[in-house]
Amino acid sequence: MIEKYINTIRQGDCLALFKGIPDDSVDITFADPPFNLGKKYTSYEDSVEFEEYLHWCEMWISEMVLVTKPTGSIFVHNIPRWLTYYSGFLNKMADFKHRISWDAPTAPMGKSLQPAHYGILYYAKDAKQNKYYEIRYPYKRCRKCGYLLKDYGGKKAGLHPFGPLVSDVWTDIHRIKHNKYRDEHPCQLPIHLLERIILMSTDEGDIVLDPFAGTGTTAIAAKRLGRKYICFDIDEVYTEITEKKLSQEEGSSRIGTVWVSFFSSEVITVRHENWEELSMFYELPYPNNKIDYIKIDFKNRSEVLGHCACFKRRNARSRMEEKLLFHVE
Ligand SMILES: C[S@@+](CC[C@H](N)C(=O)[O-])C[C@H]1O[C@@H](n2cnc3c(N)ncnc32)[C@H](O)[C@@H]1O
Repeated sequence: MIEKYINTIRQGDCLALFKGIPDDSVDITFADPPFNLGKKYTSYEDSVEFEEYLHWCEMWISEMVLVTKPTGSIFVHNIPRWLTYYSGFLNKMADFKHRISWDAPTAPMGKSLQPAHYGILYYAKDAKQNKYYEIRYPYKRCRKCGYLLKDYGGKKAGLHPFGPLVSDVWTDIHRIKHNKYRDEHPCQLPIHLLERIILMSTDEGDIVLDPFAGTGTTAIAAKRLGRKYICFDIDEVYTEITEKKLSQEEGSSRIGTVWVSFFSSEVITVRHENWEELSMFYELPYPNNKIDYIKIDFKNRSEVLGHCACFKRRNARSRMEEKLLFHVE
């Protein structure tokens, strides 16, 4: 029964669409709902009464938990205020794993501390059976001198060549700032945010469901990483934009046989267990403590990344920019 939903974007109300998805059938669910902050959506009123909003949230959160497999995970993204209520709902139905703080400046809210992060609640349907993979991200370095920003003292020789394990505070993924990189949508998420979530909680071929797909961030991340997707959105224009974008995507976010997440053409999330295979593609500093000032890079960038859509896109962009700057034909 789930087959007809696989790799489709359904236009409609998520509560109605959830009825077609069998219980315990998808590997992860991710939701980035309207925040009830009066945002300008084309076909949705983003400003309803407090109780009404929370009641509605509890309904779709319950559906998310129901359709998730016992090995699966549930992720919900929102501002800290709404997450305090969401935890109350989720604690009754699933097992708490983390509350991820995603460092991203948000709009000033009047007389309050300046909001500077969003939260992502991360629950396991059943903690004992939950599928989870440790992930790593690149070290933060000084842009000018290239040295590691964090002082690891005498422990540099033992550092992992790629970078630290990802914690529950994410400071290395930025919101989409420039209009030229976003669709006609008021709150599109970065694709590599979803790729990180997908890499740590699913395997190739697993099913990712997003009931508030917007312009398709989750579906694109899933497709790039060789996963399946099921997406809903109430807005016809957004679903059309998503379909169009998906038709230009391929499952090529890979190095060798290993799925990784790129931003531009830099690898920004890898699974710890894949490092042994991945490390063969990199020039590693020797001795290891040179990591302090030498950033690892590919032995042959174009050979390693030539098949990746991200690399082709970047090359096409730089060729275009070259033409514009230097009037090259
Ligand atoms: C915060 S946005 C999601 C943005 C998305 N994460 C992205 O990166 O593009 C919320 C989305 O929920 C959709 N929406 C609102 N009410 C809905 C409902 N009842 N069922 C399905 N989608 C709904 C809106 O059209 C909007 O696109």
